[in-house]
Amino acid sequence: MTDTGMFSLAGKVAVIPGGGGGIGVALAQAFAAAGAQVVVSGRHAEALEAAVARVAAAGSEGLAVVADATSEADSDRLVAAALARFGRVDCVVNAVGGGAGKVLHRAEDYPRSDWDWIMELNVRSTIVPTQAAVRAMIAGGHGGAILNISSVRASLGIDAGYSAYVAAKGAISSLTRQWATEWARHGIRVNAIMPTFIDTPQVASLLSDPEFKAGIVGRIPLRRVGETRDVVGPAVFMCSDAAAFVTGQILAIDGGLTATQ
Ligand SMILES: NC(=O)c1ccc[n+]([C@@H]2O[C@H](COP(=O)([O-])OP(=O)(O)OC[C@H]3O[C@@H](n4cnc5c(N)ncnc54)[C@H](OP(=O)(O)O)[C@@H]3O)[C@@H](O)[C@H]2O)c1
Repeated sequence: MTDTGMFSLAGKVAVIPGGGGGIGVALAQAFAAAGAQVVVSGRHAEALEAAVARVAAAGSEGLAVVADATSEADSDRLVAAALARFGRVDCVVNAVGGGAGKVLHRAEDYPRSDWDWIMELNVRSTIVPTQAAVRAMIAGGHGGAILNISSVRASLGIDAGYSAYVAAKGAISSLTRQWATEWARHGIRVNAIMPTFIDTPQVASLLSDPEFKAGIVGRIPLRRVGETRDVVGPAVFMCSDAAAFVTGQILAIDGGLTATQ
């Protein structure tokens, strides 16, 4: 029997730290279109208000909360705001992160300052809002779904100065499995997606170099980089009841790149 309603997020409340970002805003819109009420957070109100407008245009209700994802106090306030407005938290999609091509250093010289920055931006920013939301999920007693954003770089080395980024995304993938194991007893599923290049403002300058882009595309069997629309379907699926028995998994969204390695 096919029940396409199992893909719906109607009645669910999704919190998206980084919901004003290149991937985050597409996720906010897609989660709204799937029926969820959506709370977006980040450090700049303007981007968040634009995301809330996309949520409204998709036919749902949104809430913008200015909050630093590396701050415990801000993350507690984010979750409290979601509970105050919508009464529950069902999904967290951790869309804060990045910095991949912004700081490149030889592995033997990688400086601690940039290492710490990349780890804060990707790992701390995933841990802190998740902890705050999961405490609320456990108290709520109705389970939940966490979706992290790792990267193909968690699985693949690259002959460039990416040490901190690959370590950060490796940590995200490992935490996904660890959290899935620990929080299963509460009915909380934890999964991740690991995209290759997705055409967003964050990677626009890299992709604007035709030689660089051709090199990337040449390694991807589907012969293109990803678009944000390639990310949202798997993300909605992972947070929907259609994935009720899926936890601890890391889904590559990479046009087949990792299949070739
Ligand atoms: N684009 C790609 O090709 C690609 C590929 C693989 C994986 N990913 C991953 O996908 C995720 C999203 O990437 P993206 O391309 O959408 O990046 P993005 O456009 O830079 O979005 C990141 C968002 O995070 C927010 N943010 C950064 N630091 C924050 C903090 N301390 N507290 C709260 N919000 C913070 C930023 O908003 P504010 O600055 O306003 O706070 C921004 O809205 C990242 O984890 C990235 O590594 C991206």
